Amino acid sequence: MSAFALAPLPERAFASDMVSYRLVAMPMRYSPAPGVVVNAIGYNGSVPGPVLRVAHGQRVHVEYVNRSSIVTAVHWHGMVLPNAMDGAVGVTQAAVPRGGRFVYAFKPDPPGTRWYHDHAGDMGILRGLFGLFVVEDPRDERADVECAVVFHDVPDFSSVQAAMMGTSRAPMIDPMDSPEMRAMKPSDKMGDEVRYLAHCINGATYPNTKSLKVKVGDRVRLRVLNASGTQTRYVRLAGHQLRVTHVDGNPVPVPMEFEALRIGVAERYDAWFDVRRPGAWLLQGLSSDPLAFQQAMVVYTPGMEKAAPLSAPQSLEGVDYLTYEKLGGGFAAAVDERGITIRKAFTLGGGAWDSPRWTLNGATWPNTPKIAVRRGDRVLVHFKNTTDMDHPMHLHGHVFRVVEIDGNALARPLDKDTSLVRSNGGTLTWIFDADSAAGRWLLHCHNEIHMMDGMMTEVDYV
Ligand code: C2O
Ligand code: CU
Repeated sequence: MSAFALAPLPERAFASDMVSYRLVAMPMRYSPAPGVVVNAIGYNGSVPGPVLRVAHGQRVHVEYVNRSSIVTAVHWHGMVLPNAMDGAVGVTQAAVPRGGRFVYAFKPDPPGTRWYHDHAGDMGILRGLFGLFVVEDPRDERADVECAVVFHDVPDFSSVQAAMMGTSRAPMIDPMDSPEMRAMKPSDKMGDEVRYLAHCINGATYPNTKSLKVKVGDRVRLRVLNASGTQTRYVRLAGHQLRVTHVDGNPVPVPMEFEALRIGVAERYDAWFDVRRPGAWLLQGLSSDPLAFQQAMVVYTPGMEKAAPLSAPQSLEGVDYLTYEKLGGGFAAAVDERGITIRKAFTLGGGAWDSPRWTLNGATWPNTPKIAVRRGDRVLVHFKNTTDMDHPMHLHGHVFRVVEIDGNALARPLDKDTSLVRSNGGTLTWIFDADSAAGRWLLHCHNEIHMMDGMMTEVDYV
């Protein structure tokens, strides 16, 4: 397994203006929990793949080789890059077949916590093809300890087909008192949930997860990614508040402290804490799934490696967890709509029991309405969610601003590339500038089931 504590990059790492990597997608087996053996596909034989790191301003050259039996391509999630490097199969490139190779070369931008994953439509993420990509920002405050924390889940593949057909009987497993659980009626038949065999951090479950060693006085930075195929995660470090400085890699207007993070699929948060006393504490993914009690890793000070770590309850009752509204400073009178040249409204629909459709304005990919832009346009996209699940909507190749939620303008809009649109009538608005490279940029729900079932469209530069 790769190491996930991120040592500071040595000076010589910055000497060259190019960083080279080789990524090989290969079949592998691993056992993340007792009795669970996974036939996975991993980059360089590990799940998650290696943490890729460059300093902002450096170029990256990635030689990608596919030694797996599925068709693949690598998407660089959250990067603004040339369209031909975006890795979206069928849109920006042809799939890399078994034995094939593709070279990705670009200048990673913007800086921050990004990630990379498969984007060929054959469940690559669910199989294990994902990893973190850190673009170091020289303007960031220095951390004493930095750690990559990738939350991911191992699916029972026999449930994936049923979830796509809308006939899955896998239960919801959000923690008690979460908005997801509160929105459920006892009669609700979900039909779209994947059944998971293990909930992991960095490829393992507790107590086999790698621990993080810290010292009293340390200021620690966690780069947290939710690489789950379908589930929102609530993340807590027992006994600590987490100070959030970046969302999806982008600095927040005002850093804020929370008792727990709420991380939608594909989102990232940079969360910091100070070590004030000796101890051992669990960093946990909260949920009501008994399996999820294993989704934890230990943070400890020297001498405490054998101590029973402090843990937090698997409930959100009374817990101050992160929301866009809190991080966005509450509400403003109105959205600043200056300069908007294009407006597009999407109704998120579908997902009925026994239906294989998740829709945008009633249609499924590739028949969904697209957004045509010209360079220089300022685009406002409004979502209304009529379904009973939250949707992590993602746009390739751009950073958008979340300006409105459920009818309220945010006082401090958040710069993101993925954002959850709340279930049962929730709304959300993005504004973005069409100033990326010309081409076709996908816009889709990052829940793998919803995406494969059609909740996808594109922004096209014309
Ligand atoms: Cu994280 Cu279409 O991608
Ligand atoms: Cu969705």
